[in-house]
Amino acid sequence: MLNLVLFGPPGAGKGTQSEKLIKKYNLIHLSTGDLLRSEIAAGTELGLRAKQLMDQGLLVPDEVVIGMIDNKLRENQSVAGFIFDGFPRTVPQAQALDELLSHYNTQITVMIALVVDDEELTRRLLLRGQTSGRPDDSNEDLIRRRVKEYNDKTTPVADFYNRQDKFTAIDGIGNIDEIFEAICSKIEQAATKAG
Ligand code: AP5
Ligand code: MG
Repeated sequence: MLNLVLFGPPGAGKGTQSEKLIKKYNLIHLSTGDLLRSEIAAGTELGLRAKQLMDQGLLVPDEVVIGMIDNKLRENQSVAGFIFDGFPRTVPQAQALDELLSHYNTQITVMIALVVDDEELTRRLLLRGQTSGRPDDSNEDLIRRRVKEYNDKTTPVADFYNRQDKFTAIDGIGNIDEIFEAICSKIEQAATKAG
């Protein structure tokens, strides 16, 4: 299986690149942010609880997102692989993901980080906020809070994969198709290495 973690701060382009990658490699896209927004749209209790944190730019509890990923892995067996987008976002989530994948005799192939500076992230998210309706895109303070949450809690996840020799980073600024090509070449290198 090809199991990718697409990593990077809010607005780095994880969702944009995932859409292209799932077509090329025939993968299942698992975005915990999208899954949580579906729960909110459906008005579930989980969604209502998550919304309070998401609207403040804060992470939801680990067990909530780990449970959602667990369900999705169980629902999607015999597939070519997965793209994890916006997950894992803490070291305990990364540990849980390794454990879950081991039940299916598989593992993460590679983590690819999209590197984008804070100024560009803010610019992109404020622009998207004009049409997305995402409350967490609505103002600059909230966007900065999301970036701070990423810097405080999520950046250690890169070290977690680096220790497994599975971390790689690329420049996430520039033309979307060129970034996509750079990601694909990283995937092909990693797949060759994994054998
Ligand atoms: P989530 O939905 O994951 O949001 P995020 O990480 O904040 O990232 P975004 O979806 O905003 O950005 P993206 O990297 O996907 O970029 P995109 O492609 O859209 O999480 C939302 C919330 O849910 C969290 O704050 C948290 O509360 C909760 N949550 C989710 N997962 C969780 C977890 N695992 N644990 C705990 N809590 C969790 O691009 C952004 C914009 O830029 C778009 O408008 C796009 O068109 C544009 N763009 C993309 N690429 C380029 C480019 N190369 N040049 C110019 N513009 C570009
Ligand atoms: Mg996204």
